[in-house]
Amino acid sequence: MDAQGILAGQRALVTGAGRGIGRAIAVALAGHGCAVALVARTAAELDDAAAACRAAGAPVATTHVVDLADGGAVDALAAQLVEGGGVDVLINNAGAYSLGNALDGDPDEWTALMAVDVLAPMRLTRRLAPGMVARERGTIVNIGSVAAVEPMKGPGAYAAAKHALRGWSLSCYERLREHGVKVVLVNPAYVATPMTAGVPGIRHDRLLGVDDVTAAAMLALTTSAACCPQEITLRLTRRADA
Ligand SMILES: NC(=O)c1ccc[n+]([C@@H]2O[C@H](COP(=O)([O-])OP(=O)(O)OC[C@H]3O[C@@H](n4cnc5c(N)ncnc54)[C@H](OP(=O)(O)O)[C@@H]3O)[C@@H](O)[C@H]2O)c1
Repeated sequence: MDAQGILAGQRALVTGAGRGIGRAIAVALAGHGCAVALVARTAAELDDAAAACRAAGAPVATTHVVDLADGGAVDALAAQLVEGGGVDVLINNAGAYSLGNALDGDPDEWTALMAVDVLAPMRLTRRLAPGMVARERGTIVNIGSVAAVEPMKGPGAYAAAKHALRGWSLSCYERLREHGVKVVLVNPAYVATPMTAGVPGIRHDRLLGVDDVTAAAMLALTTSAACCPQEITLRLTRRADA
């Protein structure tokens, strides 16, 4: 638990919590005594993550099988959470990856990419931030990428989505800070998760760990109400090109 115990009893929503970075952040929040709501499409992974959260100390861990590419389903999820009292912590982590660029890739696939990586975080923020403002307390963590801050020769569509998320996150920081709501963007380089497990041409032993990203995400949650880390970019110490 954090030194002040300030997270105990707070309610957190974590998207993409079934595996990888989202699961690690959810378990960390649970360890601080947060009640967690876990979102993804794969029920079995959510159930497993919820069990890990309960074991870590979450007073409540609920699972929500939702396709974040479906705006109506995202709205229904948000409405359910607002009905239950809202959330204090929103972790917009779920993300899809696409290799598409100006010379290859499927533009129709990019529609879903944008829906999951950009529009779902925007929609969840729009639905859940008003409650945070009313309570004058809340934290929103958006998981971006180094693809949010630099161009990508290969995964151009992914870079476009993450750049858009960055614009949204920094704008939300400006809009919500005066109401006591923190908004932080975390931009990891390659992380060892199922997303990168099959990616060829990289030194997998040199990647960030999910605990590195979790530590960055937790910074906004464990610092004082006066402190908001607006954007954190996590680079690799050594290049991971194979
Ligand atoms: N791994 C990296 O190298 C890296 C680097 C920089 C940034 N990131 C970002 O970090 C975030 C998490 O990545 P990760 O590596 O942990 O990915 P991951 O291991 O593939 O996990 C992604 C999670 O998001 C969920 N998800 C994906 N599409 C979804 C959808 N349409 N609706 C609901 N849930 C969905 C997945 O569950 P289901 O498939 O069951 O839905 C899963 O729980 C992403 O935003 C990614 O862009 C990753």
